[in-house]
Amino acid sequence: MSRLASGFLGFFLVLAVFLGGAALAADISLPAPTTQGGIGLFDALWKRSSAAGGDFTLAEVSLADLSTVLWAATGLNRGGTGYTVPMAEGLPPYVDVYVAGPEGVYLYLPKENLLREISAENIRAQIGAQAFVGKAYYVLIFVSNPEELGGLRNRDAAEEFAAVLTGAMTQDVYLAAAALKLGARYIHSMKEPAIVAGLKLPEGHKPLALMLLGN
Ligand SMILES: Cc1cc2nc3c(=O)[nH]c(=O)nc-3n(C[C@H](O)[C@H](O)[C@H](O)COP(=O)(O)O)c2cc1C
Repeated sequence: MSRLASGFLGFFLVLAVFLGGAALAADISLPAPTTQGGIGLFDALWKRSSAAGGDFTLAEVSLADLSTVLWAATGLNRGGTGYTVPMAEGLPPYVDVYVAGPEGVYLYLPKENLLREISAENIRAQIGAQAFVGKAYYVLIFVSNPEELGGLRNRDAAEEFAAVLTGAMTQDVYLAAAALKLGARYIHSMKEPAIVAGLKLPEGHKPLALMLLGN
């Protein structure tokens, strides 16, 4: 190889590494979640409630609190051998949690405790039927994952199982929010086409619920 050719090759290799690194840099490595202490389960159950729509004012929620809420929803427990919510047939999570925030849209990866960037768009005001959805600092979006559900022996129950899991996950969000003194609200009235586009959902991945999170 000529000197010129190897020079070009080197330049493109450096460029590729740089661009690859830049893409990864947009992911958010979450701080470790709080997994101990807090207000106590029965206090959290006593306080669990939906914040009123008008309570959402775009006030910031910290990444530490977001990490704890996501962990409560579907994080690993028992030393990494199980999850905070029960999964049918012991499958890996078949409902994904996406996060829409001021800086963009992300997919939560529980094993890596990472938010994988989907886009740098702020889609919060476009995805709910009610205007106050756009005033939540974070909107968690629960989406069924047909590839993971495909692992079920009991395929006929897939939709039902995804709904059951979403119920467990969102209840955990309510309890974690109560413990962290955050506002939370379950929302069914979604704009599905805007969510499918905003989250760049693959074919068959279905939005099931939103959970608003605010301070
Ligand atoms: C399945 C389900 C769907 C809901 N959908 C909406 C919704 O689209 N918009 C909304 O503002 N609240 C929604 N909510 C929140 C309920 O209105 C709220 O939980 C109810 O008023 C009881 O209040 P609480 O959670 O404080 O006990 C929903 C709750 C559930 C369980």
